Amino acid sequence: MADPAIWSGGADLLRCLSVTPEAPGVKTFRFAPESGLPLRFHAGQFVTLGLPLAAGTVWRCFTIASSPLQTEAIDLTIKTQGGEATVNASATAWMHAHLEAGMTLAAQPPAGPFCLMHPPEVPLLLVSAGSGATPMVSIARFLRDIGDRTPVHYVHLARSESELLFKAEIEAIAGELGSWTVDWLTTASGRPDAASFARLTPDLARREVFCCGPAGFMASVEDAHAKAGGPAARFRKEAFVAIPIPELAPHAAAKETATRFTLRFQPAGRETEAGPEETVLAAAGRLGIAIPYACGDGICGTCRIRKTSGEVEMHHQGGIEEEEIADGEILACCSYPRSHLVLEV
Ligand SMILES: Cc1cc2nc3c(=O)[nH]c(=O)nc-3n(C[C@H](O)[C@H](O)[C@H](O)COP(=O)(O)OP(=O)(O)OC[C@H]3O[C@@H](n4cnc5c(N)ncnc54)[C@H](O)[C@@H]3O)c2cc1C
Ligand code: FES
Repeated sequence: MADPAIWSGGADLLRCLSVTPEAPGVKTFRFAPESGLPLRFHAGQFVTLGLPLAAGTVWRCFTIASSPLQTEAIDLTIKTQGGEATVNASATAWMHAHLEAGMTLAAQPPAGPFCLMHPPEVPLLLVSAGSGATPMVSIARFLRDIGDRTPVHYVHLARSESELLFKAEIEAIAGELGSWTVDWLTTASGRPDAASFARLTPDLARREVFCCGPAGFMASVEDAHAKAGGPAARFRKEAFVAIPIPELAPHAAAKETATRFTLRFQPAGRETEAGPEETVLAAAGRLGIAIPYACGDGICGTCRIRKTSGEVEMHHQGGIEEEEIADGEILACCSYPRSHLVLEV
């Protein structure tokens, strides 16, 4: 159950307090809850924003870059993915073009398993590329704020020197804590492979790794970690991409399966059939019923709906609480029918 003394999204909107250019195509947006309630999160977690594009609201996840010890406001550092021509169609391009101090947005509360919940027990490797720096800087700011002197190796890759995010601040944190080593890489000197990461961090196997960046980049780091003998449980990664859900196009063909269940969506009273391998979100999308979603992976909680009757198998990753499940709620993006269903949307 949500703590009423902590910000929990819903009708309590986030107000944009400031917008600060960070690097080419990257801005930091500071937000605070309209209610003034404090924010609670772990370093590395994200919030989900509802962005009012011309065609309707879209939901996108953004990692909180600020320290969890700063509870009155959060910083989101966001790279635009579109140019001038897409400001009304692309979520981040809209933010860069239109979002300014004073405006409010709907938002879902902090979530996500990719986070540092406690002071580290073993040395860390924080390794990121591009906007993947945001969870790393939140962890760095957290360790600075609590004065933790665990050895940390910080590695960041960008396309050019001017795109190396948070460089001055990370250097300052490294200097202050004295237990850090830092490497700044640019693709101008080549894309690092597994051998490069093995050379950069000779003691990789004993470190807990937080890795965020494009898929190929993370695969190289993971490969280096595995070859060094690092345990898989100490390798954490996060991709900044939503799971693609092609079936969401209205009137997309249902998958052919022998077992089929009827899904009835209330209050519209519309029905469709779905097999056991199709999510409730995809089945609704085929009917043209747009359930809001963001991560597509059971993490953020944006697609939470009520199930009035029937059984689903839900593969969530923390985006819903046990009490909410007991109360009949499900996450549509990761719930698969196991019987006929009646759902409230
Ligand atoms: C856990 C997490 C944390 C993230 N943290 C950050 C961060 O700190 N900083 C940052 O800059 N970015 C972050 N991102 C990426 C961000 O949420 C956007 O997905 C990304 O910037 C794409 O830009 P856009 O939304 O403007 O693209 P758009 O132009 O709106 O979309 C690009 C394409 O991707 C599709 N698409 C992308 N996401 C979705 C979605 N959720 N639902 C439906 N379609 C989608 C669109 O349909 C379109 O085809 C994070 C993503 C995740 C999942
Ligand atoms: S869309 Fe994130 S939990 Fe379903």
